[in-house]
Amino acid sequence: MSSDKMGRLAGKVAIITGGSSGVGRATCRRFAQEGAFVIVADINLDGAKMVAQELAGQGMAVHLDVASEEAWLYALNLAVDHGGKLDIVCNIAGVGKVGTIEELDLNDWQRMIAVNLTGTMLGCKLGLATILQSGGRGAIVNMNSIAGLAGMADIAGYGASKGGVTMLTKAMALHCCQKGYPVRCVSIHPTYIDTGMLDHNLMNTAGGYEERLQELGALIPIGRIATPEDVANAVLFAASDEAAMISGSSILVDGAQLAGLYNPG
Ligand SMILES: NC(=O)c1ccc[n+]([C@@H]2O[C@H](COP(=O)([O-])OP(=O)(O)OC[C@H]3O[C@@H](n4cnc5c(N)ncnc54)[C@H](O)[C@@H]3O)[C@@H](O)[C@H]2O)c1
Repeated sequence: MSSDKMGRLAGKVAIITGGSSGVGRATCRRFAQEGAFVIVADINLDGAKMVAQELAGQGMAVHLDVASEEAWLYALNLAVDHGGKLDIVCNIAGVGKVGTIEELDLNDWQRMIAVNLTGTMLGCKLGLATILQSGGRGAIVNMNSIAGLAGMADIAGYGASKGGVTMLTKAMALHCCQKGYPVRCVSIHPTYIDTGMLDHNLMNTAGGYEERLQELGALIPIGRIATPEDVANAVLFAASDEAAMISGSSILVDGAQLAGLYNPG
């Protein structure tokens, strides 16, 4: 790891799950620009390798299924072996399937809980232990959603998995304070983001992807959906020492969507 690079994360070592695409990929790029050494972790190893290659010596790829404890232990060991310590865990990997409570399929439910909630729990628990053991100090940032704060009828299972992450984040933040651990825990709650996950869920809707994107943008007071970079910038802030007083918080990246009742006029 080269630590002579300047930036808002200079000298920090971070593991970023879901790093091969969408928000995770944008976050890997942003972290490396700001001087971090980045472990790009994803179930899609080829994709993770391509992202790590872009980071020009400031990153490496690892295969990680976030729902597996064994896989987490392997990836975290690798991070410390190559980075010398661990400061930041970004739990960004996620899966989503549209469906109301009546439409919810048990297999889809179990997958969303396994990846979004259990995967994040393992990243928090094992990531914290690794940060402490390796002498690092820093932050765990959990990728959440507006659906982890407000009920959304058509994504019942996804919302339930993200609501669990909201409370897990708060419990962990308080625990670290009680113990005097130098680790913060924050969750980030974006609105719709233009990534593969949205594409996948909107592909079959009448009117097509582009039309549906416009419709979704019109629901958001700021007038558009988020880009992966909008969200990566919030993750960067939450993970950096600039956020030293922020823990247990839910940071909204929602274009004012949850600010209140919106009348476009
Ligand atoms: N796209 C949206 O509209 C939106 C909105 C709010 C929050 N989010 C959240 O943002 C995060 C990133 O999603 P995205 O929009 O970039 O989607 P994406 O599909 O582009 O990225 C998800 C990534 O997670 C990886 N992944 C899936 N299962 C995994 C597993 N078991 N182990 C390791 N990696 C796994 C995928 O390979 C992929 O690289 C997710 O947590 C998602 O819930 C997305």
